[in-house]
Amino acid sequence: MDLGVELAPRHGRGLRLRNPVMTAAGTFGYGTEPAELLDIQRLGAIVCKGTTIEPRDGNPQPRLVETAAGLLNSVGLQNIGIRALIEEKAPVWAKWQVPVVVNIAGDNAHQYAELASMLEGVAGVSAIEVNISCPNVERGGMEFGADPQAAAQITAAVKAASSLPVLVKLSPNVSDIAHIARAVAQAGADAVSLINTLRGMAIDKERRRPILGNIAGGLSGPAIKPVALYAVYRVAQAVSIPVIGCGGIVSASDALEFIMAGASAVQVGTASFTDPHAPLEVVEGIERFMEREGVERLTDLIGIAQR
Ligand code: FUM
Repeated sequence: MDLGVELAPRHGRGLRLRNPVMTAAGTFGYGTEPAELLDIQRLGAIVCKGTTIEPRDGNPQPRLVETAAGLLNSVGLQNIGIRALIEEKAPVWAKWQVPVVVNIAGDNAHQYAELASMLEGVAGVSAIEVNISCPNVERGGMEFGADPQAAAQITAAVKAASSLPVLVKLSPNVSDIAHIARAVAQAGADAVSLINTLRGMAIDKERRRPILGNIAGGLSGPAIKPVALYAVYRVAQAVSIPVIGCGGIVSASDALEFIMAGASAVQVGTASFTDPHAPLEVVEGIERFMEREGVERLTDLIGIAQR
């Protein structure tokens, strides 16, 4: 059986994954911590925590609230900054087989381009995921992902600054996600990943106050799966670049739904908080399904529910 997928077919270098299961940014650290618990080399790819030029402390606590079938977070892009990533994390990744994708976030197009150029030639970095969809920062983030012109401008700036494959992570907090996907595809994105979290909040009745220190946060987990699945289905019809599905995937069954809707790969996110083995279990479940159904190539399943 061949579980391999190509995520950047129109890029000279390409981004070939041995299987379609990636980790989602912000849910698997830098891959180095979970590497102590499981064989991460068996994953399709690892996407690291959203990274900015300078280190960030993130938003005020509390930053996490469990909800029915989901999780609200307002982390606020806490991260070690690009220099520490290059000096401390990339040398570890360079010894791995599993490709690592660096998720980048900035306040303006210039910062995104600077991040991309700093990653140029860094061993251990296989691709860039442009985060224009974080709902938890005052400047940048979702603000760019909600505006097709800004989304395209940032995509073009990163493409001009980088020879790596560029994925763009889209926000569901827009009226038409397919419109944004088309804009970034036209600006040169090699693939799109979707969806990031849905904006939401929770209130503490006793204190009569919002629970999250930042008032609002992003909802992830099984609660958002149907929204994410439909977004993937629509975007796969709207663009000809690969689509990476993300949002509430906890099992191989969920992953297969996204693949059949048109995703070339999937990202497992919130499920890793409950069980860091979840992404590997998704790989194994996909293999079992293909074996049982006599499917030789995973690519035969991509978008099959569209036909
Ligand atoms: O708040 C955060 O760090 C979340 C980032 C994201 O959703 O991209």
